[in-house]
Amino acid sequence: MTTLGRGIRRMRRNMPSIAIDRAQASEIESLLSLYVELFQDREPLTKCIGWSRERMMSIARTMYAGADGNALSQGLGWIARDQARANQDIGFILCDDPAAAPTAALPDDLTAQEMRMVSAVTAWLEAIRSPVQDKLGLAAGTGLHVSAVGVAPGYEGAGIATRLLQTAMADAAARGYRFAFAECTSSPSRRCHEKAGFTSVHRVSGEKLLVAEDGALANSGWDVHLMWKDLANE
Ligand SMILES: CC(C)(COP(=O)(O)OP(=O)(O)OC[C@H]1O[C@@H](n2cnc3c(N)ncnc32)[C@H](O)[C@@H]1OP(=O)(O)O)[C@@H](O)C(=O)NCCC(=O)NCCS
Repeated sequence: MTTLGRGIRRMRRNMPSIAIDRAQASEIESLLSLYVELFQDREPLTKCIGWSRERMMSIARTMYAGADGNALSQGLGWIARDQARANQDIGFILCDDPAAAPTAALPDDLTAQEMRMVSAVTAWLEAIRSPVQDKLGLAAGTGLHVSAVGVAPGYEGAGIATRLLQTAMADAAARGYRFAFAECTSSPSRRCHEKAGFTSVHRVSGEKLLVAEDGALANSGWDVHLMWKDLANE
């Protein structure tokens, strides 16, 4: 169990003490730490890749806070905090605008096996996005990608991920975004997206996509759903 989960009983519904704020660019380090803590050992794709916490953090830093810029400078990240526990960070959502963001940089020191894993995951992402590929080429400010959403174990099932998604979607719609999409790798993830108004438009077997030719990634045994939401009527 992670530090955040220890000592906190599993909660259901009504958590008035949870506040959701847009993450400032200066908070990138705490948001990435939260991402690594909440995804490692829990999110199916991250588990399948199997990198250590330290390796995940160094790769996340290069991708989201590297020379190509700070992922939060577009104002597309939010953090959920528990006001009853000294504003402890307990959840986050990180989005990006694929048409506006530069191609994410990769660390120079990736091993050959890590590079093969990255290539396999990139191919997987392209395949899952294929039905909407034409829409992703539209102008910046049109389509929003939900890169990651996570909630600490002791806080699951209380609707916090749904609230994070709703906050991000309302803000995106107010800024003129017309649609949002996400790749969901588990039932809880799919379910909170559905509750926030997304629908599944494409399903791909993880087994088909996650095995690199040299076996760099094991069979996943789980499916991935491409979730879609029109923001025009938000
Ligand atoms: C996925 C995740 C963000 C959900 O957070 P959350 O705050 O618990 O989500 P919500 O409470 O808003 O909604 C969860 C829904 O999934 C349902 N759910 C929970 N476990 C489930 C399961 N095993 N199968 C099906 N549905 C499940 C809940 O019942 C709830 O739906 P309901 O309100 O209709 O009952 C959280 O589990 C998490 O951080 N997981 C690890 C990281 C991850 O996988 N992120 C998603 C990447 S695609």
